[in-house]
Amino acid sequence: MNGRARKVRSFVLRGGRLTAGQQRALERGWPRFGVEFDARRPLDLHALFGDDQPVWMEIGFGNGESLATMAAAHPERNWLGVEVHLPGVGRLLRRIEELGLENVRLLRHDAVEVLEAMIPPGALAGLLLLFPDPWPKKRHHKRRIVQPGFVELAASRLRPGALFHAATDWEPYAEWILERFEARPDLFENLAGAGKYAERPETRPLTKFEARGRRLGHPVHDLLFRRLPRRPEGAEG
Ligand SMILES: C[S@@+](CC[C@H](N)C(=O)[O-])C[C@H]1O[C@@H](n2cnc3c(N)ncnc32)[C@H](O)[C@@H]1O
Repeated sequence: MNGRARKVRSFVLRGGRLTAGQQRALERGWPRFGVEFDARRPLDLHALFGDDQPVWMEIGFGNGESLATMAAAHPERNWLGVEVHLPGVGRLLRRIEELGLENVRLLRHDAVEVLEAMIPPGALAGLLLLFPDPWPKKRHHKRRIVQPGFVELAASRLRPGALFHAATDWEPYAEWILERFEARPDLFENLAGAGKYAERPETRPLTKFEARGRRLGHPVHDLLFRRLPRRPEGAEG
């Protein structure tokens, strides 16, 4: 070790072969819809999407089915999907092609680093974290993407009034997310009321992992937090 702490990541890169269709979609679609990670260059989101629509980002879109569905249902929003698993990126590019979507861009990189380096402060209208890896073992809890630093990072990239939406079928992780977001009442308001989970928003499509959780009989919890406006220095309450 050279003295620098090794970074704890919220994922382990799985292998997985690309299907021929995913490979073709990557070759055709990546130049148009893919964004290369560049730690030195924050994104100009207006230039990237070619308009001023509000930008929603999904962390860990998996196979991209819910992102494709949401992007088709909300053409008045722009969608930035971030995922590390290459076959998932290939699959979403295929869906983008099939559905003729114009309002989606993809990054294949650690979403925490994307938020840190490429998303300008206050740039996002929404941030989605659907069925994040739950890391159930105690010694792996440090790998959970939601940590106090993540709550601050999310707050800094969301504009006032913007939404953070998480869903999970792992109840201890739902409690963990609730605790960490509610620990920052200066940054976020729980839209369901303190200590409560939200109703499943109709706008959230059923994901592959949610379907699996249902089969296993896991209850699904949605969490909806609104980014609060910054209070003036010294304001009470
Ligand atoms: C349990 S899966 C859920 C996928 C999808 N959201 C769904 O509900 O079907 C979690 C996904 O998050 C991705 N992931 C985990 N940490 C990530 C990170 N820091 N940046 C980007 N993707 C990440 C994983 O590769 C995986 O595909």
